Amino acid sequence: MDKPGTEDLVSLTQRPQWAALAAHATQFAQTHLRELFAADPERGRRLCAEGAGLHLDYSKQRVDDQTLRLLHELAASCDVHGRTAAMFSGERINRTEDRSVLHVALRMPKGERLEVDGVDVVAQVHEVLDRMAAFSERIRSGAWTGHTGKRIRNVVSIGIGGSDLGPVMAYEALRDFSDRGMHFAFVSNVDGTDFSEAVRGLDPAETLFIVCSKTFTTLETLANAHAARRWCLESLAGDDDAGDDGAVAKHFVAVSTNTDGVRDFGIDTENMFGFWDWVGGRYSMDSAIGLSTMIAIGPDNFRDMLAGFHAMDVHFRDAPAERNLPVLMALIGIWNNDFLGADTVAVLPYAQYLKRFPAYLQQLTMESNGKSVTLDGRRVDYQTGPVYWGEPGTNGQHSFYQLIHQGTRLVPCDFIGFCEPLSPLREQHDLLMANLFAQGEALAFGKTADEVRSGGAAEALVAHKTFEGNRPSSTILARKLTPHALGALVALYEHSVFVQGVIWDIDSFDQWGVELGKVLAKRTASELAAVDSPRLRHDSSTNALIERYRDQRGA
Ligand code: F6P
Repeated sequence: MDKPGTEDLVSLTQRPQWAALAAHATQFAQTHLRELFAADPERGRRLCAEGAGLHLDYSKQRVDDQTLRLLHELAASCDVHGRTAAMFSGERINRTEDRSVLHVALRMPKGERLEVDGVDVVAQVHEVLDRMAAFSERIRSGAWTGHTGKRIRNVVSIGIGGSDLGPVMAYEALRDFSDRGMHFAFVSNVDGTDFSEAVRGLDPAETLFIVCSKTFTTLETLANAHAARRWCLESLAGDDDAGDDGAVAKHFVAVSTNTDGVRDFGIDTENMFGFWDWVGGRYSMDSAIGLSTMIAIGPDNFRDMLAGFHAMDVHFRDAPAERNLPVLMALIGIWNNDFLGADTVAVLPYAQYLKRFPAYLQQLTMESNGKSVTLDGRRVDYQTGPVYWGEPGTNGQHSFYQLIHQGTRLVPCDFIGFCEPLSPLREQHDLLMANLFAQGEALAFGKTADEVRSGGAAEALVAHKTFEGNRPSSTILARKLTPHALGALVALYEHSVFVQGVIWDIDSFDQWGVELGKVLAKRTASELAAVDSPRLRHDSSTNALIERYRDQRGA
C-alpha cells in the first residue's frame, strides 16, 4: 500500500498531488470512454481487481493510467497506509469522540489478539458471539419458550439508524439462508404505525423483542420499546407470580453498551448482549446488533458472514494500493466527486435480496463522510461525501435511469451482481444479469447521432435518441449472494468510506450533525404534550406550523 508521505500537514487542496489531479482533470475532461477502450483493447481486463471473493471492474470509470497514478500519489501524501495501520491497531482515530474505531475486531478469528488499553478485545468479541450463538440456538430449536410456554415464532427487532439498517438489510439479503418457520419484523420509526403494523396479527406469547440501541437513550427506540412492553404485558402479565418481570424476561432481550439503561428499562442484564464504544452504530451489524440476523440464519452462517468481512479486512490491510478494492473504490469516488463534479453515487444492486442495501449504505457513507470541517476544525474548501442513493435493478431502469443516461448531471453508478442465482428461475437470472451488463455498456458508450441516423431515425428525433455515453460506472461481481459475500461487500464499502475520510481529513466516525435536530425535537415534543398550549418561541414558520398542527391533530 501507499508509503507515508511528508506533506500530511499541508491542507489538501494546497498539495502538489491535488493540483496535479486538477490540471489532469481539465485536460482529461473531454476524453470519452469510447476512446479509452479503443486505445487499449485490454482495458476491460486490466482495470479490474479481486479481493475476498469480489471482482471489481472499474474500466468503465473515466480514468486512465495517469489518473490512477495521481490518485495513488494523493493517497500516499495523506498517509492512507499509516492511518489504516492506526485503525487496525486500535489508535483513537475517532478524535472528536476520543475513541478507537475497531469494527475490524468484530470479525477477527478466535485466537487472534488485539489489545486496547490492556484488554484483548478479540476475546471479548468471541465471548459475546458465543453467548449470542447459544441464545440463537435456543430460540431456533424451541428450547427457549415464552412466558406461557409457547415456542418463539416471531422476532421483532426494535432500533434505528445503525441499530436497524444493518439488521434489516442483512435479514433481507440473506433470506435464502433464513429459518422460514420464523417471522422477523423490524421497527424503527417513532411513527406509531411502524410498531402497530409490525405486530399486527402476532401472538405476544410467541413473540420475542430485541431492543437494539448502542446508547439506550434514543427517543425512537425507547418509545417503541415501551409500546412493545405495553403490548406484551397487556396479554401476558400476571399469568404467574413473576408478573410483569416474568413476561419481560421471556420476551425482551437488549443489545447495548449501556448496562444501566437496559436495567432501568426493566430488562434483566442476563438477557443483554453487549458491545463497546469502539463500534460505531453504522459499523455494528456484525456485533451483537446482528442478533436478529444470527437467529434468522443461524450461528454458522453468521460466522461465515464474519469470515467474509474479515477476508476483506485482510485484503484491505495487506493488498498493494493498486490492487486494493476499497482503496480503488475510494480513489475513484474522490476523482468523480472532487474533480469531475459528480454530486451523487447511485448504488444499483441487481439482486432483489439487496433491496435494503442502498438504504444501509446511505447511513454508512453519508453519516460517516457528511462533514465539512477537517479533523482540526478548519472548514474544507473541497467537496466531501456525495449523496448515495439507489434501488435494485431492474426496477430503477424503469424509473430514474433516464436521468442517468440522458440528464445533464453526472451520476456515477455502482452495479452489483451475482453470477449464480439463488432463485430456481435461472433464465430470469440471465435476463437480470443481461440488464446489468447492458446498462454499464450503454452508459459508457452511448449511441452517436450517426448510429441513430443509420438506424433510420427521423432527423427531428436524432438529438432525442442520441446517448452521449461517457457516464462512469463500476461493476462489482461475486459468485453468489452468500453470507460470506455479503460480509465482504459491506466491508468493501466500510473501508472505502474510511479511505475517503482520511483523504478528506475528516472524522468519519462521529455524527454531531444529528444532535441539533434531536435537541429541538425534545423541546418541541414537550410543547406539543403540554395541556396549556405554551407560547411558542420558534421562528415564525415553525410557530405557524405547530399552531396548525395543534388545531388539526384531533382529540
Ligand atoms: O442519530 C444518529 C445515531 O446516533 C446513529 O449514529 C445511530 O446509529 C442511531 O442514532 C441509533 O443510536 P442508538 O444505537 O444509540 O440507539
